[in-house]
Parts: sequence; C-alpha cells; structure tokens
Amino acid sequence: MSSTQPIPVIAIDGPSASGKGTIAQHVAAALGFHYLDSGALYRAVALAALQAGANLENDLELSRIILTLSINFTGDRVAVGGHDVTEAIRDESVSNAASLVATYPKVRKALLARQRGLRQAPGLVAEGRDMGSVVFADAVLKIFLTASAEERAERRYKQLMGKGMNASMTTLLQDIRERDARDSARPVAPLQKCADAVLLDTTGVPVQAVVTQVLALYQKARQAP
Ligand code: DC
Repeated sequence: MSSTQPIPVIAIDGPSASGKGTIAQHVAAALGFHYLDSGALYRAVALAALQAGANLENDLELSRIILTLSINFTGDRVAVGGHDVTEAIRDESVSNAASLVATYPKVRKALLARQRGLRQAPGLVAEGRDMGSVVFADAVLKIFLTASAEERAERRYKQLMGKGMNASMTTLLQDIRERDARDSARPVAPLQKCADAVLLDTTGVPVQAVVTQVLALYQKARQAP
C-alpha cells in the first residue's frame, strides 16, 4: 500500500441485534483487519455512569465521566478501568442506558477521537450506527445491515439463553422496537442508511453467506477507481 492511501475501513451499521457484530468479526478475521465494536464504547460509558450513580439525563456529567474513563479491548474482551465488563455491558439495563446516553452530542463527540484512533494498519472493520455516516465517512465500503425486529429479538433471546441469562421474548421485542425508534429519531448521528451504503437484509440468511457477500463487495470496492 502506498503511503498516500488511507488505511482501509469497512463500516458496518445497522440496528440492535442485526448481526453486525458477528458479521464484522468474521470479515475482520478473514482480512486480518482490526475490529471495532463502537456500541461497546457506549455501553461502557453507560455502565460506568450507572455504577457511579450519575444522572443519565445530565450530558455534562456523562462527558466528564468519559474524560477519565479507560476503556480497553483485548481480543473479544472489554475492560473499563481495568475491570472486565464483557458480560456486564450486555445486560438489558445497560443496553437501555447506552441507547439513552448515545443521544447526547457531547457524549458522541467525546467518543469520536477514541474511535478514529483505532484505525490501524492493515485495516479496520468498524460496526455501529454512524460508522459510515460520521466516524469513518471515507470508508472504502459501507454496509447497512438489517433484519426484521422479530428475528433480531429471537437472536438476542438465544444469545442471552446461551449465556444462562434470563430473558422474555415479548420484553426483548418491545425493547428492540423502542431502541430502534430512539436510535433513529435522535437529531445527532441517527441510525440511517447513508446514500453510499449497501443495504443487506439478513432475515433468514446464514452468517457465512452474508460474510461472503461483504468480502466480495470489499474486493469490488477496493478495485474501484
Ligand atoms: O450496537 P449496540 O446495541 O451494542 O449499541 C448500544 C447502543 O449504543 C445503541 O442503543 C446505540 C448506541 N450506539 C450508537 O449510538 N452509535 C454507535 N456507533 C454504536 C452504538
């Protein structure tokens, strides 16, 4: 790669439980790229705020927490302030708090540099809500991954059950719908497919088929003039 070429980024955006994480991790492994789960950053902030007893409605207090927060990714583990929080940040209470803290421009701004700092050679697969629209607007490939709310609730249900956690399908479906509405309606970096993103509906599509499709789209995109 010539020094004038930017480090390639594949941006994968989409709603909760659309399979972004699984697809992004497989694509990153296939290409030997780094992987960024940006949702984990919002979740880490939400967990830290809950643990500190912070007011989740106070964006200034939240952005102050971020300033001093050390968040580290090691493989598929996430640590906040040196404590492993990989499972804790997946709790439904943290999911809902993350969706709320993510609505504040101050919080989003405070996390911007951390996300961009993870763009390292040979490349990055970044997943979230605004990877293609804001954080890595120059990504070589932008994917908008979706699936029906029912299928997403079922995926999350199986995921939680597999981890021995309690869950109710009705509550999960309701939470997913509420979070979709909140993530899409917020004025800053709302969840939306940008014009230059490729829409992939994964309802009923096996993981490997989606991964193959993304890899083919990447090969095509990097050859484009
Ligand atoms: O992808 P996830 O479900 O782990 O994300 C948790 C929350 O963080 C979700 O409600 C939306 C928010 N989020 C965001 O606003 N922007 C991102 N790039 C990633 C996540």
